[in-house]
Amino acid sequence: MCGIVGYTGAQSAAPILLAGLKNLEYRGYDSAGIAVLDKGAISMAKASGQIKNLCQKTNDGAELHGSAGIGHTRWATHGAPTDTNAHPHLSNDGKFAVVHNGIIENYMALREELMEEGFVFASETDTEVIVHLLDLYFKATGDCKLAVMKAASRLEGSYALGVICAERPGRVYAVKEASPLILGVGIGENFFASDVTALIAHTKNIIYLDDGEFAEITPDRITVYDCAGTPKKKPIFRVAWDIEAAEKGGYEHFMLKEIMEQPRALKATIEPRIKDGRIAFEGLPDDYLAGIEKIVISACGSAYYAGCAGRYAIEELCRIPVETELASELRYRNPLIDEHTLLIVISQSGETADTIAAVRECKARGAKTLAIVNVVGSTIAKLADNVIYTWAGPEIAVATTKGYTTQVAALNMFAVYAAERLGRISPERYAALVEALRSMPERVQRAIDLNKNIPELAKRYHDNQSLFFIGRNIDYAICLEGSLKLKEISYLHSEAYAAGELKHGTIALIEEGRLVISVACHEALFDKMMSNIKEVKARGAKVLAVVLEGNRRIFSEADDVLFVPVGEPLFMAAIEIVPLQLFAYHMARENGCDIDKPKNLAKSVTVE
Ligand code: AGP
Repeated sequence: MCGIVGYTGAQSAAPILLAGLKNLEYRGYDSAGIAVLDKGAISMAKASGQIKNLCQKTNDGAELHGSAGIGHTRWATHGAPTDTNAHPHLSNDGKFAVVHNGIIENYMALREELMEEGFVFASETDTEVIVHLLDLYFKATGDCKLAVMKAASRLEGSYALGVICAERPGRVYAVKEASPLILGVGIGENFFASDVTALIAHTKNIIYLDDGEFAEITPDRITVYDCAGTPKKKPIFRVAWDIEAAEKGGYEHFMLKEIMEQPRALKATIEPRIKDGRIAFEGLPDDYLAGIEKIVISACGSAYYAGCAGRYAIEELCRIPVETELASELRYRNPLIDEHTLLIVISQSGETADTIAAVRECKARGAKTLAIVNVVGSTIAKLADNVIYTWAGPEIAVATTKGYTTQVAALNMFAVYAAERLGRISPERYAALVEALRSMPERVQRAIDLNKNIPELAKRYHDNQSLFFIGRNIDYAICLEGSLKLKEISYLHSEAYAAGELKHGTIALIEEGRLVISVACHEALFDKMMSNIKEVKARGAKVLAVVLEGNRRIFSEADDVLFVPVGEPLFMAAIEIVPLQLFAYHMARENGCDIDKPKNLAKSVTVE
């Protein structure tokens, strides 16, 4: 939800800011802007629409001179995506410019107060109050650092801010509260950004800023302060991946690249945690589940659906009740959660506002919290008692693919690990399940290789305006994710139904030619699925089935078939989803959609 970047060094800032913004564009792409400091003045350019418009407007940055600056790519919350509402925002005297990711909840009260002081507002954004507060406190103190501190102390809500001041050449300021912000340490140049992808071309040395901290950044020095203004020593971390991981690498879209990367991502998530045939999670003690009577899995969107899929294996192997709940719902109930509950939260970005709130809520009720997260150092990773990182590498496409499959794999691993610790699994079954986990990457590769006909199928089906996904058990959980994938990138209406539920109402919508994607990989329920398939066929539906490799019975009913390799039934989710990801991708491609940047969406949802 919005991306920010800042630079100070010896090079021209504008092209560096634009390149950084391009790598952050997945966070929001309604409008963009940059502001650069030069000879005691700020020059600025903004453009609505994608970053390419801003590049065009500024001749790829050549029109803005100066070697320190800030940039922003926006996902609109307060005010339409116009040039005026685009960031940066300038103070009335033109001395301060600010970029902001997050939401200022008390902005209305601050706006009134500042208007009474005589400040004139140009935009409808919540952000603009910040720049006027900076102006106010700078005039009162003559100290820029103090002005940043004082302005930040007036804000309620979430913010990652980048600030420049015309009277402080070569300096950029960065502040954070409940929104992601990292600092990049270079040689003779330094940076800040919403995430590593914007900086990886320049440096792999990163400082994670914590909530309430702010940084004063010059080309040679980064000084981090706590909210009282006391300098703090911060460790420098080395990013484990390279620039190639954040590039398309010859693929037409990041989404396709990330689908193809899944075998590698799964290997990175699974392999290092299996030592001598045993699963070990760093930081989890042997008696981790002692006293736990219930597990609650909470997350949003695809991460929630990963939880729905992973739940089956945990419940089946550990024999502990597992509930799944959307984070946005959990936070506004009075849930039965206490010290006997383990809360597992799942998040690719580690920054999803509703998921963060769910962790806070459950911690306050005494629950033990375990986060499954991809982004190292993210808010959720820091907030939870323990973390299992998914090691999928950077995920750029807004629609998650490798993020989802690695989350499912982590849950599957946790199920086997926990069952063994609880003594609820025989050594033979344990060994067989560890082997099944190990084989996951190659089975995902097989699921990719088996389904070369998907582009053809997409050509045939892309005109369908409304589709259904049906399945039972884990297959149903896969339908939820398959349907979301299709919706978010192809804009086709689709719904996922538990196959047995269709006849309780929704079957009224099945008519001649309606496409029903039927996931029927759960062998024990295959006959039941065949009955459901017959029911929709009898009403004129076309059926595209997803079944296990070697299944011939399906041909008597299905119009088209996708195959997935046979394997441990409890661990099918990460395998079965692959053809549905590819189907969604090719349907969107046929429909000419902007696959990596679907309309109205952003990768990291840091607002409620
Ligand atoms: C998935 O394709 C989505 N774009 C979205 O549902 C996402 O999974 C959700 O917003 C949660 O994000 P997180 O994993 O970063 O918390």
